[in-house]
Amino acid sequence: MSTVDKTAIPTGDEMAGMTQEELARLGARLDGVELVEYGPRFEADSPAEKRAERQVAKWFLLSAASALAFILIFVMWPAGYQDPFSSRQWIYALFTPLLGITLGAAILCLGIGVMSIARRIAPHEVAVQQRHVGPSADHDRRTLGAELMDTLDKTGLKTRRGVLKTSLLLAGGGLASAAVLAPIGGLIKNPWAQGKDSELWVTPWKPAADGTLVRLTMQDGSFVRPEDLATGSIMTVFPGVPGGATASDAAVMLFRLRSNEPIRVRTGQDGFNYGDFFAFSKICTHVGCPVSLYEDQTGRVLCPCHQSQFDIHDGAKPVFGPATRPLPQLPISVDQHGYFVAVHDFIEPVGPGFWESFQGSTPWGSHPEVQPQPKPVFPPFGQLPKENS
Ligand code: FES
Repeated sequence: MSTVDKTAIPTGDEMAGMTQEELARLGARLDGVELVEYGPRFEADSPAEKRAERQVAKWFLLSAASALAFILIFVMWPAGYQDPFSSRQWIYALFTPLLGITLGAAILCLGIGVMSIARRIAPHEVAVQQRHVGPSADHDRRTLGAELMDTLDKTGLKTRRGVLKTSLLLAGGGLASAAVLAPIGGLIKNPWAQGKDSELWVTPWKPAADGTLVRLTMQDGSFVRPEDLATGSIMTVFPGVPGGATASDAAVMLFRLRSNEPIRVRTGQDGFNYGDFFAFSKICTHVGCPVSLYEDQTGRVLCPCHQSQFDIHDGAKPVFGPATRPLPQLPISVDQHGYFVAVHDFIEPVGPGFWESFQGSTPWGSHPEVQPQPKPVFPPFGQLPKENS
């Protein structure tokens, strides 16, 4: 219950003539608050005041440094995937914890700094307040505003304390930058900078500059020969180049279909297979999950994420689920040593449905300059060399 003495409330004109501190004290009195002690914590520019200021600024500078560390780690840390047996795996494993630690430290130090202002810089005050119920009256709101502004004035943040203000700005700016970095971080690099050779158009299956074709390998790096697959089976293969087994767009399913099965190939992709062997991207064209569940009887592969199904007997076209684009086919053959090679890169983009916006520019939905290449002359299917090298 409020104990405000209504007869003691000054008129508007009277309040207009009062100083800020008088209004602040009036507000306390009208609200039933007795200010036992009230005033600046230190003498202006005294050594004690400067020491308190430095102690608060220290937290803001720590916050700014942590936010800067977050930004540098986000942008510069070599965060590419390293397999568990790699000597560089710790670099990959540290990336996410470091982001959490630095961002958490930036927020924590900023919070401690703000609390330190109240404890070390704001006016010293000992008050006893009687609580009341219901909304505040007009004079309460006006006097409370004056009290807050008076506190700000006495804190000196408006007119003095350059170190404190600068460090607070650095902390706030650093934290704000860190907050916006995550959503816009992916836009820092221009993925189209190299035209048709940009990394979104090209995969590690692209032949080397001297024309050397990329061999198909298993995850342990060993090369793949036709006799490694039984009829009706599937094998996941990767490009035999450094980083090929971890590239996000390179995993391929190699199928050995039954010779008596009716097969339809997509227009313009005749000869992409090697006899009964067909290679299709393992990256689902819906949102990029790895497609892997193969049913030999129906010739369908299933994506476990949203149940899209692709018919391997019909150019890996989607026959069920949300995917709308076939799995890109990798043109394959066998080199003079009997190992599978990619004749050239995919002729259409690998991965999610974003690429559908490009369909219509070419029959492949790909970059206009990327077209099928002539197939080199290799041993015909069924006449493989016996010797490995
Ligand atoms: Fe394959 Fe959605 S990612 S169906």
